[in-house]
Parts: sequence; structure tokens; C-alpha cells
Amino acid sequence: MTLPPFKLERYFARYEFSAPYLLCSSDCEARSVAELLALEPDAAARFERCWLGYTESLGAPTLREEISRLYTTIRPEEVLVFSGAEEAIFWFMHAALQPGDHVIVHSPGYQSLSELPLSLGCDVTPWLAREENGWALDLDQLEASLRPTTRAVILNTPHNPTGYLMSAADFARLNRLTQARGVLLFCDEVYRGLEYQEAERLPAGCDLNPLAVSLGVLSKTYGLAGLRIGWIATHQRELYQRMLTLKDYTTICNSAPSEFLAELALRHGPALAGRNLAIIAHNLALLDDFFLRHAARLAWARPRAGSVAFPRLLQGEIEAFCHDLVTQQGVMLLPGTVFDGSNHFRLGFGRKNMPEALNRLDAFLGQAGG
Ligand SMILES: Cc1ncc(COP(=O)(O)O)c(C=O)c1O
Repeated sequence: MTLPPFKLERYFARYEFSAPYLLCSSDCEARSVAELLALEPDAAARFERCWLGYTESLGAPTLREEISRLYTTIRPEEVLVFSGAEEAIFWFMHAALQPGDHVIVHSPGYQSLSELPLSLGCDVTPWLAREENGWALDLDQLEASLRPTTRAVILNTPHNPTGYLMSAADFARLNRLTQARGVLLFCDEVYRGLEYQEAERLPAGCDLNPLAVSLGVLSKTYGLAGLRIGWIATHQRELYQRMLTLKDYTTICNSAPSEFLAELALRHGPALAGRNLAIIAHNLALLDDFFLRHAARLAWARPRAGSVAFPRLLQGEIEAFCHDLVTQQGVMLLPGTVFDGSNHFRLGFGRKNMPEALNRLDAFLGQAGG
């Protein structure tokens, strides 16, 4: 297995801890340990007693129980906890795929979702999101791409980087199409819970379809990326066991303090997500006005969920634009070149200081003759 550099991570490494304004983060506003411990009167005292031995490989039983409540059909023994969503993606791909398998992947997208199947010798067909349709995926196209050798379809909705949210009707059809052919459906749902209209929230894949695998994490919706707690929820027993066995070769088990804090956070999940949704709503109103004023320079499809969007620079070259912006104004954007080589950029709006960063982008566009 050879893996090329993860372009997004390498780009972030250049500026994430030096640029004063990150205008492209996908995780929402984070919290401190103290803020989490303040959620329950005796939490601080319990945290002090947290035992620092190895933990259960599957994830603490009480944490898995809390995670299972996010689903309607999942039992705690159908949840497998990992160190972040990234470790879960890594082991799902290794457990599910063989060289020569055909895999259809939502594109453009988060690099590991396509890179890992490629590195495992799979035949990868991109399922292209269309900007002209609000970054929608075409189900007829998916149906035409399915082959007898198709092992898995990889979907990410709400989507990074476009903010696309699939409709309930399309999602139901996708589940029917894949299930009927015995194809696994990997649903990266790490932004689930950040729908701007709650009524548009999709059911989790694993609750609709026995061949679906749902991916969740505390990083995005809950703003707790530093905990590194992610999970898989699925009814697929054999696949679950294979992932569990493989995990012995990376983290073995999760961090005990993180598991404690993750469980505490999930007991207050709606409140934590609610604060981040309010930040997003406030920031989106500013973005509507911003894109209206800069329509000659920038085009965007307004997202329907999540904390990121993928606007397009209409004139100029995106890498130079991002470089000049970060060096002149200290504002980091992520060029589309780290995704699909396009002239887009990823914009993140789940952070409290987004208005300040946006003002700086506004000033930069003004100076650049906007
Ligand atoms: C779609 C998607 N899946 C998975 C991940 C990985 O999440 P984590 O960093 O919490 O492991 C990310 C992070 O950006 C993501 O955007």
C-alpha cells in the first residue's frame, strides 16, 4: 500500500497554527475541557477519577450506548469507536475492499475517501457532483456506473467541501439501488446534525439499509475535534469484527479521558450542536450579503447543511489568490487544488471569529480592485 501526501492536511500544516484567521476550517467552534465539565455538577470530580489504563477496544460500553442513541435501529454492540473519523475510514476501507473491487466515490471530496480505495488496488469511479445543480449527485448516473464487481459506494452528505445535502427521496433511492445489488453503502455523516432546516435531516444510512455503514465523529457538529473520537455504526457483523481486529494494529483502544469527555458531550449533544448551528446561521447571513456584493468576482452555491462551502474565483488563479490573502491579511482559505484542481476555494463558517476574517477578505478584494 502506498499513500500519496494528504493534500489538504499538508496545506493546513503550512498555515493552521500561524495564520491568525482560519476562514476554511470544517470543524465548528471548539470548547475547553472546563466548559464540558461544567455541563454536569459532579463531572469534574468524576473526571479526576478517570482511570488511565487501557480501555475496551470496541469503545467504552457507556459511550457506545450514548452513541447508539443517535440512531433508531443501532444497538451499542453495533457501534465501534475509533480515534477520529479518519481512523474509522482507514479501517473500513481495509476491512471491506479487495484489490480489483470496483468502488464508486462521491467527488470532489475528502481525499481519504477516494485515496484509500485507490491505494488498495480498487478500480475507482468518481461520482461527480455538479456545481450547476447546486453540487447535486445524479442518481441515474450512479445507476449507470454500477457493475457486477461494484463492492461499495462512498457518499458524504452533508458534504465537504460543497455543503450539499442529498434529498430524502434520492437518499432512499440510493439505499434501494445499492441494497438490491448487494453493494455496501458507506455514508460519511460527520456533518450530520448541521442541517439548516431540521426537517431536511436524512435518516442515518445504517438505520435505512442493512448494507449501509454510517460514520460519525465529535469533531464537526459538536466542535470537539481534539477529543479524536469517531465511530462506525452498522448492522454488518462480519465487517464490524474485521474492523475491530484491524484496529489492534493502530490505536488498539481509545484515550480514556477522551472517552469520558465524549460521553459527557453526547449527553448534551443537542445543546452543543445548537450553539454551533446558531453561529453558522449568523455567519451565513453575512455571507449572503458578501457574495451578493462580490458577484462579479466570486460565484457560490449556497449550502444547505454543514460548516463549509466551495465558492469559485471567477478571475485569477486560486493558489496565488490564497497565497496573497494569507500573506497580506493573515486569512487562510483552502485552494480547490487540494480537492480537484479547480479554481474553487473552501470556505468555513462554523467559527465565531468568521465575521472578522470575512472583513479582511472583503478588504483584500477591495485592494485587489474588487
Ligand atoms: C468528510 C469528512 N470525513 C472525515 C473527516 C475526518 O474527521 P476527523 O478529523 O475528525 O477524523 C473529515 C475531516 O475534515 C471530513 O471532512
